[in-house]
Amino acid sequence: MKKRDIALLLVAVAIVTFLLMAPEETTAPVPRDEIHERFYEIAAKEGRRAAEAFCADCHNEEMIPFSAEHPTTFRCLFCHKLQ
Ligand code: HEC
Ligand code: HEC
Repeated sequence: MKKRDIALLLVAVAIVTFLLMAPEETTAPVPRDEIHERFYEIAAKEGRRAAEAFCADCHNEEMIPFSAEHPTTFRCLFCHKLQ
């Protein structure tokens, strides 16, 4: 194996480890309220990726900043489950 292949492999392992360690079940679900109800519909009709596209409209530094401990903001619904 070339050095570059080994580096790529290590990166892949790191990413998989990171995803498996994501604190899925203890994470607060997406609230089932007036604000978030429409994302349940979008997720049901068009999939979770389509729904996630809207989260950052409000959950961003200006409007609702994330706490300092918040992990990555990549793919919200991977960690925050729909109820
Ligand atoms: C229109 C603005 C808006 C959008 C868009 C939005 N949210 Fe929210 N979100 C809020 C507000 C306001 C709160 C705090 C009040 C509440 O719980 O509804 C909140 C709270 C939350 C919480 C915290 C629940 C808790 O128990 O602390 C989570 C998780 C969350 N939103 C996830 C999402 C996800 C995932 C999306 C995209 C599918 C999303 N939100 C889209 C406004 C929004
Ligand atoms: C890797 C998993 C993960 C991803 C991805 C993720 N979150 Fe979180 N989120 C958490 C954890 C863990 C907490 C803190 C524990 C809790 O209260 O649920 C949290 C907390 C929150 C809170 C409560 C306030 C705070 O900052 O602690 C909101 C709102 C929230 N997340 C929204 C989102 C949105 C919107 C996205 C996508 C842009 C997102 N999260 C992506 C894991 C994640």
